[in-house]
Amino acid sequence: MKKTNLFKIIVAFFAVVMFVACADVPSGENYRFKDGMIVFDEPSRVAGQESMLGFAAEPIHTVRVGFIGLGMRGPGAVNRFTHIEGVEIKGLCDLEQNNVTKCQTMLERASKPKAEEYVGPEAYKELCEREDVDLIYIATDWVNHVPIAVYAMEHGKHVAIEVPAATSVEECWQLVDTSERTRRHCMMLENCVYDFFELTCLNMAQQGVFGEILHAEGAYIHNLEPYWNSYHGNWRLDFNQKHRGDVYATHGFGPVCQALNIHRGNRLTYLVCMDTKSVNGLEIAKSKMGVDEFANADHTTTLVKTELGQTIEIQHNVYTPRPKTRLYQLTGTKGFANKYPVQGFTFTDGMLKDGVLPEGARLNPHGFASDEVKNAALAAYKHPIHQEIEEKAKQVGGHGGMDFVMDYRLVYCLQNGLPLDQDVYDAAEWSCIGELSATSAKHNSMPVAVPDFTRGDWNKLQGLKFHTK
Ligand SMILES: NC(=O)c1ccc[n+]([C@@H]2O[C@H](COP(=O)([O-])OP(=O)(O)OC[C@H]3O[C@@H](n4cnc5c(N)ncnc54)[C@H](O)[C@@H]3O)[C@@H](O)[C@H]2O)c1
Repeated sequence: MKKTNLFKIIVAFFAVVMFVACADVPSGENYRFKDGMIVFDEPSRVAGQESMLGFAAEPIHTVRVGFIGLGMRGPGAVNRFTHIEGVEIKGLCDLEQNNVTKCQTMLERASKPKAEEYVGPEAYKELCEREDVDLIYIATDWVNHVPIAVYAMEHGKHVAIEVPAATSVEECWQLVDTSERTRRHCMMLENCVYDFFELTCLNMAQQGVFGEILHAEGAYIHNLEPYWNSYHGNWRLDFNQKHRGDVYATHGFGPVCQALNIHRGNRLTYLVCMDTKSVNGLEIAKSKMGVDEFANADHTTTLVKTELGQTIEIQHNVYTPRPKTRLYQLTGTKGFANKYPVQGFTFTDGMLKDGVLPEGARLNPHGFASDEVKNAALAAYKHPIHQEIEEKAKQVGGHGGMDFVMDYRLVYCLQNGLPLDQDVYDAAEWSCIGELSATSAKHNSMPVAVPDFTRGDWNKLQGLKFHTK
């Protein structure tokens, strides 16, 4: 072949490669292929609608609450609310009368007034329409979260939604837009951010103990084999049978996003996801549902990049026998934190504040700090929220107390007219991982842009703040 022809072929080849890499190609779905990346449609903000960043509502002296979804998770919340001052439980709603009756008994035992009962698939509407309710607390199956939350906000109620708040990118936008339009709080009930180790580490991270955090890890690895039969109408296995990707990312993802100040001076830019084939999930679904296909992988791994150049790895596995773990790991330029399977730190000289290091203690930059150093640091960096409420939280309980800390903070912020610890953008960012990771996996781990649910405002707040009066 003549040299000139070869040259033309090479030029043509690179032209095609460049075209494909830079093209903006519709997919026929709610995303496009743009510059080598999958980009989901981002609706622009409707005129008159404003950001909810830093939003604070009028103080509510007595928070009047209605609970919707009283299966395995909901009753624990009802119980915890009986231990919070300045709360009235106005309504209890579920598909099953039985579940409502159990919670009524709980109120009676706590010497609280009876709540109004709502039973049936549409009964939540009546509860949301009540004038004397401020907060709707949702603990139904996942697909009911957004329809109920939207209805509640449209009827003037603040909402708190169990995890994940939403099941698709489109549902995330619905929460953001409804919250912005109605000026109602929409908080996802991500309890793991209030766990004792995580909140202490957040405090350390905010005080620079780990230097600059470069990499973080989180997971939901929990063999649900003993529980599959307990979900109402088999909703969870049914959802996983139909959905690929990390469908339950928020427990692992939320705490590390907080440590990285996501949408408070930093943002998630894109992710890639790779998953295994389904073996155990398919086996369970075959025997329980009589199906031959199962979309959710036995083990799903997602890597997310941030604007400030950090990486986050999250994993999901609810099918194989192994110890339960949320991982929780922070890797910084000057230190390291790890929660599972052993809580431990690597600290380096000069990073802990004065007086924390026990007399004569030496730090090892390639090993865990001694128990003496670890315990001294855990005590010195205990988060002010835990200093205030830890004892009561441990008495009331709920995953060792973190659930009570969450409910307590939600009510405290509402009572005092403060911004909530988790806003609607957290709910959207942490929940959207489900569909985004599924889409990456479906396209051979192609990068997927993470939507900016703040619509350009991710750099307006600097750092995460838990507000107090
Ligand atoms: N944060 C945590 O640690 C944690 C732990 C467990 C569960 N969860 C979350 O809690 C939620 C509920 O999970 P679960 O384990 O209790 O499931 P579950 O199946 O035991 O309970 C769901 C309940 O919702 C009710 N429900 C469904 N549709 C309804 C409707 N339209 N109106 C009223 N009630 C309705 C059902 O009757 C059922 O009682 C899920 O979002 C789950 O992810 C969170």
